[in-house]
Amino acid sequence: MQHTMDRQEAEKRMRELSERLEHHNHLYYVDTKPVISDQEFDFLMKELEAMERQFPDLASPNSPTQRVGGDITKEFPTVAHRWPMLSLSNSYSREEVQEFVQRIERDHGRNRFTLELKYDGVAISLLYRNGELVQGLTRGDGEKGEDITANVRTVRTIPLRLRGNPPAELEARGEILMGRKEFDLLNRQRAEQGEELFANPRNTTAGTLKLQDPKVVAKRHLQNYIYSLHTDELPARSQYANIMQCHAWGFRTPDPQKRFIEQTDSLQGILDFIAFWEEQRHHIDIGMDGVVIKVDSLDLQDELGLRAKSPRWAIAYKFPAEQKYTPLLDVEFNVGRTGAITPVAVLEPVDLAGTTVKRASIHNADQIAKLDLHYGDRVQVEKGGEIIPKITAVDVQQRPPHARPVKYPERCPACGTPLVRDEGEAQHYCPNEHGCPPQITRRIEHFVSRKAMDIGGLGAETVDALYQAGLVHNVADLYDLKQDQLLALGKGWGERSSQLIIAGIEASKSVPFEQVLFALGIRHVGEVVAKKIARSTGSIYRLAAMTREELAAIDEVGAVIAASIHDFFGAEGNRRIVERLRAAGLQFTAVHGGSATRSDRLQGLSFVVSGVFETFTRDGIKLAIEQNGGKVSGSISRKTNFVVAGADMGPAKKAKADELGVKVIDETEFRRMIGA
Ligand code: IVH
Repeated sequence: MQHTMDRQEAEKRMRELSERLEHHNHLYYVDTKPVISDQEFDFLMKELEAMERQFPDLASPNSPTQRVGGDITKEFPTVAHRWPMLSLSNSYSREEVQEFVQRIERDHGRNRFTLELKYDGVAISLLYRNGELVQGLTRGDGEKGEDITANVRTVRTIPLRLRGNPPAELEARGEILMGRKEFDLLNRQRAEQGEELFANPRNTTAGTLKLQDPKVVAKRHLQNYIYSLHTDELPARSQYANIMQCHAWGFRTPDPQKRFIEQTDSLQGILDFIAFWEEQRHHIDIGMDGVVIKVDSLDLQDELGLRAKSPRWAIAYKFPAEQKYTPLLDVEFNVGRTGAITPVAVLEPVDLAGTTVKRASIHNADQIAKLDLHYGDRVQVEKGGEIIPKITAVDVQQRPPHARPVKYPERCPACGTPLVRDEGEAQHYCPNEHGCPPQITRRIEHFVSRKAMDIGGLGAETVDALYQAGLVHNVADLYDLKQDQLLALGKGWGERSSQLIIAGIEASKSVPFEQVLFALGIRHVGEVVAKKIARSTGSIYRLAAMTREELAAIDEVGAVIAASIHDFFGAEGNRRIVERLRAAGLQFTAVHGGSATRSDRLQGLSFVVSGVFETFTRDGIKLAIEQNGGKVSGSISRKTNFVVAGADMGPAKKAKADELGVKVIDETEFRRMIGA
């Protein structure tokens, strides 16, 4: 009896300690107004830690003790985002911002905008159920991200429990950042310990969030800001008001008093904000690379809708890139997987926008001619949004006497084949597709990469080794590999690593058709195009049999892509490889209705899906809508034609549908609509 009393008391005390610690954590890190000393805080923490050791089963996953790091994370599972995580379209001039505002004013009258910083960190999605943090996901590819919850719990500005009366389920999104001071401190420590230095705060943040040991993550002192809220029960139809509500629930949000967030209804107001931050950006501790302008009204946001991957209701204004001069030491000519030659400048290292730049891309022969590049020239390098800097100008005045001009090679630097340049194309190509070593190995590297066949354990070096050893000449050869062949390669090929590779190759046989199509590396067929093609054709056999005209009629496929696909399947060598891959068991059709269009019964209709269904998963019902030609939207607006409601549809949604007179249908009715 005594024991249960103890447990009950312990439970109560632990809850009390947790609440107090979180409260003081918030005062310290979010409000930056601590009311107790660090020592007092540690004291409470020690007491809680001791109790959790004594009653481990009473310790909550959201205990403040997890702030200093919980158990090692073995893997970060991939999880689908409930709402896709979009990007922002960028603009680099005030004119573009003006056009954005004018377009909206022309069609919708004068409007309010919310202005925010464009934080230069890593996007995060934070899921709360009943006020408790239950999941932290990376952006990933925008549709699915990685579950890094344990690491997220160490970020002190992220509440583990919300205050007040938040909706039962909500997702707050924002940016995780590392402050400049913290970054410099970290690099100083690394320098002292003779460790390699980190390049910049953003990459360090991204790397830190992927560490398996949350205790190390905790020591890096990451922070965050919230920039959007997603839930079926939004508190307001205004971006600004929702952010302020997030603040009230305990989130760290941008502070209007510091002009981190602002509202305006005029272009002038926007330009003032831009000018202010262009000047001030270096005076704050966090990295930012522009400002974001958002239509404040969520109703208008819904009406404006989305482009492929970014909303029409927002635009980012990016600050001009930083530029510097540095000597050009050499030019390398690299051969890519498609045979395209890219000249790369080797530079005297120079610090630019927080990183040390040693190499820069020069695009093509025309660029070399236009810049009239000479070895030893002082060249201007610029770092824009891209990771690889580029050369934008040459200081001819400072050219050393007798400097040699940079000459574009006539033959492939890797295999000696004369280079070709197609009419109207900027790039030179090595036409020796099946005999040029870097083309072969890079094609294989692309094939095995994460967004393609996702064969873990096969990096550039491994692929090179397999090619050198004569084991793999093309992607189909991978599926003939045996473990003893790998082991026979000798040094560095352990039992375990070779086993992993074989298992990875085997597992790749279930990678969906759209990814396989992307993996084939057909010129101009990137991830997005591959997806479109996979969805509209449904099988590689149909695709291979299509005429150029039929191909060009597919959404997102123009004449150039159509020609490229047609040429690919026209080549005997490629057809043989595809046939071998088929025999090996790769997915060449869109399975489970993959996504081939089944009908156009729902053409022109817009749907919102809410609640839980009996014969569909939520994603399944959305897929069915798209497969039958309809559109799925996240929230109800005047443009919505139907709300498909499952069990426990949110009351707010119901009210909204009624208010706007949108028809609510159930699962059975929906099945009837699609003729199922
Ligand atoms: S809103 C609606 N607001 O920029 C689409 N994003 O290019 C985007 N970002 O991945 C989210 N500051 O990580 C939004 N104030 C801000 C932002 C912001 C930085 C990042 C975000 C996103 C990327 C989109």
